[in-house]
Amino acid sequence: MTSPAQPSTAPAAKPAATASTPLKTFSGIQPSGVAHLGNDLGAIRNYVKLQDEYEAIYCIVDYHALTSTHDPDVLRERTRDMAASLLALGLDPERCTLFVQSHRPEHTELGWLLTTVTPVSWLERTPTYKEKRESQPDDINHGLLTYPVLQAADIVIYKATLVPVGRDQAAHLELSREIVRAFNNRYGETFPEPRAVFTEAPTVLGTDGVRKMSKSIGNTIDVLGEPETIRKQVMSMVTDTQRILRTDPGRPEVCNVCQLHRFFGDDYLEIQDGERTARTGCVDTKRLLAERIIRHYAPARERYLELQAHPERVAGILEEGADRLRPVAAATMAEVREKMGLR
Ligand code: TYM
Repeated sequence: MTSPAQPSTAPAAKPAATASTPLKTFSGIQPSGVAHLGNDLGAIRNYVKLQDEYEAIYCIVDYHALTSTHDPDVLRERTRDMAASLLALGLDPERCTLFVQSHRPEHTELGWLLTTVTPVSWLERTPTYKEKRESQPDDINHGLLTYPVLQAADIVIYKATLVPVGRDQAAHLELSREIVRAFNNRYGETFPEPRAVFTEAPTVLGTDGVRKMSKSIGNTIDVLGEPETIRKQVMSMVTDTQRILRTDPGRPEVCNVCQLHRFFGDDYLEIQDGERTARTGCVDTKRLLAERIIRHYAPARERYLELQAHPERVAGILEEGADRLRPVAAATMAEVREKMGLR
C-alpha cells in the first residue's frame, strides 16, 4: 500500500519538450531476483506507462549490486530473473530499451568523472549509505559511499530528465540534481537536471505493515510467484494492530491490506467501509486481496515462465539494448572528456 501516513503523490504532469531538453525517461533497478509488489506498484507500472510517452531506457544495475552481492552465480541468476520480470510485467523491447548496466561500461567512467565534482560530505549524508552502515557493518565498501554518483551517471549519460522511481529513491535523485549543477557550474552547461516521477503508490509497505517492502527485509509479496506462495504471503500480512476481536471496528486508513485493495479493484471504498463497521473481518479482506493479486498477475506470470524457459530470448533483448545505446553513451563521453580537458 501507500504508507497510510503519507499522502500519495500523483504522477507528474507531462512537461513540455523543448529543443534543449529532449524528453527522455531513464530508470534503474537492482538485480534482486524476481520483482515484488513494491517494485511493480512503486516503479515498474510507471516504466510501462512512460514507454508509450517518451523515449524510455531501463537498466538492470549490476555494478550497483556488487556493493552487496558477492557471489557471481547468484548475481547472474538474479540479473536474468529481473530481466524476465520486467519483460513479463510489460516492458516491450519495441517501445523501450532494456539493458544491463555492465554491458555499457561508460557508466563507470562517467561515474568516476562525476566523483571529482561531488563533495564526500554529500555522500556521507545519504540515507541509504547510513542504512547500509547499519545493515552490513562488516562490508562497508567504498562502492556503498559512491553508489549515488554512479546512479547520477546512469541517468545523465543519456541526458534523461524523467526518472520513474519509488519514494525511497528521492534522496538519490536530489543528489543527482546537485551533482549535475556542480558539473555544469564547473565545466559549462552539459547535463539537464533529472527529476523523480512517482506513481500513486510511492511507498509500498511490506507484509509486516511497518517497513518498506524489500527483498533484503524478507517482507515481500512475490507477484510472479506460485499462487500458493502469494496466498501465504498475503495471509501473513499484519493488519490494524488495534483490531483484536472480529467484532472490533477496523481502521482501514492504517491497514496495509485495505490500502492495497485500492490497486486491485474499484470497490475499495466498500471494502474499507466493511472493515470500519466490522461487517468484514481482516481474514476475509486478506483472502480477497490474495485472490485478486493472483488473478491480476496471472498473465504476467505466464509470460515470466515462458521467458524463463527461453533465456536466450532475454539475453538477446539485453544485448540489443546495450548495442543500441552505444552511440549515445559514446557521444556524451566525447563531450564530457573534451569539456574536462581529457582531449
Ligand atoms: P531498487 O532496485 O531498490 O528498486 C527498484 C525500484 O523499485 C522501487 N521500490 C519501491 N517503490 C515503492 N515501494 C517499495 N517498497 C519499493 N521497493 C522498491 C524503487 O524506488 C526503485 O524505483 N538505486 C536504485 C537503482 C538505480 C537507479 C539508477 C534508479 C541505479 N541507478 C538510476 C533510478 C535511476 C535502487 O536500488 O532501486
